[in-house]
Amino acid sequence: MRPKFAGKTQKAIPIDFIASDRLKTWLKTKPKTLQAWVNSSGFTAALGQVLTVPNAQGKIEKVLAGWGAENTRVRGRYWAASVAAKLPKGVYEFGTGLKKSELEEASLSWLLAQYAFDHYKVKSGAVAMLKPAKDVNAKRLEILAMGEFLTRDLINVPASDMGPEALETAFRKLGKDYEAKVLVTKGAALLKKNFPMIHAVGRASDQAPRLLDMVWGKANHPKVTLVGKGVCFDTGGLNIKPGSSMGLMKKDMGGSATAMGLAHMIMALKLKVRLRVLVPAVENSISAGAFRPQDVLTSRKGLTVEVNNTDAEGRLVLADALAYADEEKPDFIACMATLTGAARVALGPDVPPFFTDSDKLAAEISKAAKNQADPLWRLPLWDPYEPVIEPDVADLDNAPAGGFGGAIMAALFLRRFVEDAVDFVHLDLYGWTPVAKPGRAKGGACQSARAMLQVIEDRYV
Ligand code: BES
Ligand code: MN
Ligand code: ZN
Repeated sequence: MRPKFAGKTQKAIPIDFIASDRLKTWLKTKPKTLQAWVNSSGFTAALGQVLTVPNAQGKIEKVLAGWGAENTRVRGRYWAASVAAKLPKGVYEFGTGLKKSELEEASLSWLLAQYAFDHYKVKSGAVAMLKPAKDVNAKRLEILAMGEFLTRDLINVPASDMGPEALETAFRKLGKDYEAKVLVTKGAALLKKNFPMIHAVGRASDQAPRLLDMVWGKANHPKVTLVGKGVCFDTGGLNIKPGSSMGLMKKDMGGSATAMGLAHMIMALKLKVRLRVLVPAVENSISAGAFRPQDVLTSRKGLTVEVNNTDAEGRLVLADALAYADEEKPDFIACMATLTGAARVALGPDVPPFFTDSDKLAAEISKAAKNQADPLWRLPLWDPYEPVIEPDVADLDNAPAGGFGGAIMAALFLRRFVEDAVDFVHLDLYGWTPVAKPGRAKGGACQSARAMLQVIEDRYV
């Protein structure tokens, strides 16, 4: 499904946005019939409330949309999307009531509301289309929404149809669309090319583990590398997850899906960066060949890891991919991963934590996150916790006993594999919208991509 605005020359029904505290004054200047229609309909201009206004022929002449009170408005954002969802099929445009600074977000949210995961259903179809305002960059917003839709689709397709093989196919298609160079290292070749931990985690699956690698852009542009966790299904391995925890684990490739959505945005917008996307694509399965608790793995970087829980698989596959990413000393590495349950315990599903040693980068990310209605919150790479990730028998422990500060411990683990990149951020994503919100359908969620896009544009373009 492609997010789309209506054509710029189409006839459109205007939508007037009205703040609830301004409704009375607004109405006073209007014809008596409209006053009566508003009053008899019980329209109070509450946030997201919609009232269509008919003309004498019974056709919709305009739409009134409740914009609520200022304090409720900022809370959820994306409210224009709830208006879109309530309108009948037709072409609309923003009339009065939105500030210039609100136009772009309102327009984007309208596109995001077009999303439905309908791969497995007969299509429905009725949509309210928006004729874009002159002041918004419609093409850019369609690209952003398309990136989000790509991410949501990749997450929503179940593991039966989105194993490592299918993820590779989707990855190759994305690369082909933008004439990027794609290289795949698969199965035993992972051992030969020195990606031992990607191989160890993925070797129990019928679909061979692999490292997907995409390179795009001019070699002399700033090097931006995205590393995405591509665990197509996470059973937990031999440390098997209970059913309640395994239920959503088709989304454990959410980091890779997000990296791909962001890559789509970067390439479609033709940013002047040399982009690399690395995805370790594996299934954390159970079979006789599965890696075990207390196995000691030697990573690409040479650091040894004692496996104390096969369910802490994400950091293992990412470690090899990050070490590889780091070897070309890029300007920027962003690691995206549905890495820990602890991140959700700390901040809930809607606010992913991010980790970086750079206060400057952290400030840029926090600002972009707020700006883009793409919430992110910094957690510390707490140096004094370093001894916690060091077991007796190896250099590193993938699952320290006790379990306190799990999101931080995972981030500290990853940091050990990045030394030479100029800047590094790790984002611990949830990748899922548990309860539908305006513009955000229940299911796969593209978190952090638009915030990171802004950071990359501000820094390098
Ligand atoms: N994929 C999970 C993390 C996860 C769980 C993300 C639920 C989002 C929602 C990851 O592989 C995992 O199982 N992590 C363990 C690590 C622990 C064993 C050290 C966790 O967080 O419980
Ligand atoms: Mn796991
Ligand atoms: Zn996982």
